[in-house]
Amino acid sequence: MIPGPTNLDRSVLEALALPAIGHTSREFYDEFGELLALAANAFMAKREQMVVITGSGTFGMESGIATFLGNGEKVLAIINGYFGERFAQIAEIYGSKVKRLTVRDGRSASEDELARALSEDDFKAVLMVHSETSNGVLNDVSALARTAKERGVYTFVDAVSSLGGVKLDFGSGLYDFVFASSQKCLAAPPGAALIAISDELRPLMKPGRVRSYYFDLGRWADIMGDPKIYLTTPAIPNFRALRVALMNLMDEGRERRWERHSMLGRAAWRFSEDTGVRLMAVDRSPTVSAFYVGSRAPAIKERILKDHNILVATGIGQERDSIIRIGHLGLTDVHLMDETLIAFSEALRSVAAAPA
Ligand SMILES: Cc1ncc(COP(=O)(O)O)c(C=O)c1O
Repeated sequence: MIPGPTNLDRSVLEALALPAIGHTSREFYDEFGELLALAANAFMAKREQMVVITGSGTFGMESGIATFLGNGEKVLAIINGYFGERFAQIAEIYGSKVKRLTVRDGRSASEDELARALSEDDFKAVLMVHSETSNGVLNDVSALARTAKERGVYTFVDAVSSLGGVKLDFGSGLYDFVFASSQKCLAAPPGAALIAISDELRPLMKPGRVRSYYFDLGRWADIMGDPKIYLTTPAIPNFRALRVALMNLMDEGRERRWERHSMLGRAAWRFSEDTGVRLMAVDRSPTVSAFYVGSRAPAIKERILKDHNILVATGIGQERDSIIRIGHLGLTDVHLMDETLIAFSEALRSVAAAPA
């Protein structure tokens, strides 16, 4: 019950255990083609807009910056937490001129705040995190992306802990660059970054424009159309497992999976109301909840693991010891969620009762 990597379905584990086929085999080309089509379904995008590459969520983040924003472009970064700040830092590493729009109080950035910030300079792109996994804040990305697009600004969205669990419609035309990773709501093992790139941004994807090899998406464009072209060796077992996980998503249905996640989110929010344990987020993600527990997070986490064999997460960065994060994403169902929340309330009681 950490916010990724998540539990895997048996069918996905079985795909991981398949024989090691070669990346130049007919079987792999065929499967990779299917994988791209299935990924497009998850993003509500066109197949030719998709890129799937060996790497993690941070690959998506860094490759987007390196490929499109690495030449001193002015960028506005919306920061609600740790991963928003990471996005901004990577942009700075690649030489973008970054202005931060920081929203501290557990809220989504508002359209007004964004419009005001965008009016202050000639920005090329806005960076935003859909579900901020560090504190459970959900940005209203469709409203924010519309605000940016109306002003001719490209929209870059980190959908690492939202894609598959919360609606994000790439086909709406509001987004230019959206990335996710395999190990969260898609319920596949870590190892694949999934990226959708808009038709407007795509002409900028020319190989060799930027000082990077692996992160230069221009080099990857042709390979997505023809995986027989060699660039690097893909993590074949992970890709095969991801393909099956995406089939499972299709079987469940996008809408039904979104609804299941929102039910799990509501269970976490009810728990907060019933127990008085404060949630960090006001605008809340249905995939991850961050509860403020003073300095008791490590003890609570240990209790839950010891007494119930359930792994939850503490905070990230400076807030490591004061936050319990529960990931209710991927395959989690109401029973597992109930069991986790019961374990959490028992641990809260026993840690409170323990001598300091
Ligand atoms: C919102 C968000 N962005 C980016 C990342 C980085 O992804 P990865 O750890 O797969 O590189 C994470 C990881 O948890 C995340 O939750």
